[in-house]
Amino acid sequence: MSQRVKIKQILLSDRTNYEVTVKGWVRTFRNNQFIALNDGSTNNNLQVVVNEADMDPALFRRITRGAAIAVTGEIIPSLGKGQKVELKTAVLEILGDCDAEVYPIQPQKQSLEFMREIAHLRFRTNTFGAVFRIRHSLAFAVHQFFNEKGFVYLHTPIITASDAEGAGEMFRVTTLDMKKPPLNEKGEIDYKEDFFGRATNLTVSGQLEGELGAMAFGDIYTFGPTFRAENSNTARHLAEFWMIEPEMAFYELKDNMDLAEEFIKYVIRYSLEHNREDLDFLAQRLLDEEKQKPQADRSPMGLIEKLEFVLNNEFMRITYTEAIDILKNSKPNKNKKFQFPVEEWGTDLQSEHERYLVEKHFQKPVILTDYPAAIKSFYMKQNEDGKTVRAMDILFPGIGEIVGGSQREENYDKLVKRMEELQIPVEELYWYLDTRRFGTAPHAGFGLGFERLVLFVTGMTNIRDVIPFPRTPKSAEF
Ligand code: 4AD
Ligand code: MG
Repeated sequence: MSQRVKIKQILLSDRTNYEVTVKGWVRTFRNNQFIALNDGSTNNNLQVVVNEADMDPALFRRITRGAAIAVTGEIIPSLGKGQKVELKTAVLEILGDCDAEVYPIQPQKQSLEFMREIAHLRFRTNTFGAVFRIRHSLAFAVHQFFNEKGFVYLHTPIITASDAEGAGEMFRVTTLDMKKPPLNEKGEIDYKEDFFGRATNLTVSGQLEGELGAMAFGDIYTFGPTFRAENSNTARHLAEFWMIEPEMAFYELKDNMDLAEEFIKYVIRYSLEHNREDLDFLAQRLLDEEKQKPQADRSPMGLIEKLEFVLNNEFMRITYTEAIDILKNSKPNKNKKFQFPVEEWGTDLQSEHERYLVEKHFQKPVILTDYPAAIKSFYMKQNEDGKTVRAMDILFPGIGEIVGGSQREENYDKLVKRMEELQIPVEELYWYLDTRRFGTAPHAGFGLGFERLVLFVTGMTNIRDVIPFPRTPKSAEF
């Protein structure tokens, strides 16, 4: 057997009349003659031509949809339409049989909801092949961007005793016997007896540890899984998602916004340059879906146009206060079309408000800054007005919040005071506060939800379809 070659490589070149071995899975088998073979390197299949007369009938019958096969033969110019080259089979070997009758993946279109039930097999479809190759590329681009800028990739802990966001939405990690947990004098579970000698959780964010890194390396980023036990059953929320969190010493809010915008544009550009085939496939898929909708609900831009639009336009930057004014005076607010009417300064923005700003009012990505302190986390830098903090959220069309970040409060006294107000355990977080005691400096950072980025770039509409195995309320299959 000659050396195995990936199908992508064969299809990229015009070369013919050479021998190869390919290995992959049968997508279709047409006219007892043409196998569409896919090996995952590209959505495009290699046409493999077999001659029934040359083959052992028992072997021939085992060429079925879904089977894994190895084929050695010659790459020749294709006579048929639709492909430049094809593989003329000399030797065909069945590596793994597949009973096409019971194989869950069928040649006709199947719903994304059904695909979620067979997430263990859905990578073998064109849509999910494209989505997860793009996801890979975006992850690679994230590392390349920060590496080029001299950031240190810092691995922050996954098991932690602290609640970085102070929101209390954590999954407990314990080895205690749930049937008979040890109790203390007060009758409460005694976590001193637990594995770590204290209560621990899965992390909601690597930020606090990231800040420690920034105060030594200058610029760091994390990229890892984070966990939220919030009971949000939406198309934008996961219980386990991946977050990228850069943290930069000597950055103020504006530097933070500039970096976030440059970063998002960089990774989108990377994907346009490296995933064109897969993006074109998903763009066509989206177009077909849009055709089912009434004209008025169709999006004005195709997927590629939408990505290019983000690259070519500056994000709109406004304060929370300005946004509230726009929303208060907006048509849907006056006509009582919002589920949550916007009445006064200080209320948290709901996704319907964010989407109005981005999709209707500005029609481009928006960075909202300077939120009321009361609706943001304890660590954000307090503004002079005594009401707002130097927060920034980036809102994207079709997505809502894609980035949340801020300049951090670097003043020890102000930070401690705020923590006490919010009943954040000051003693437990002594290590976090130490950065403010020993050589504190202005610094800032943000968190980008990786799946929300993948959603935007692929044009998919449900976050469950852009992570291989989604974890959501009442669902942890596979
Ligand atoms: O706004 P969040 O909660 O901010 C933080 O965690 C900060 N510590 C980040 C920082 O400043 N270093 O989350 C950041 C982003 C959100 O903008 C969103 O994109 C994503 O993480 N995110 C989620 N993605 C999927 N499912 C969820 N349940 C998410 N919660 C947040
Ligand atoms: Mg947020």
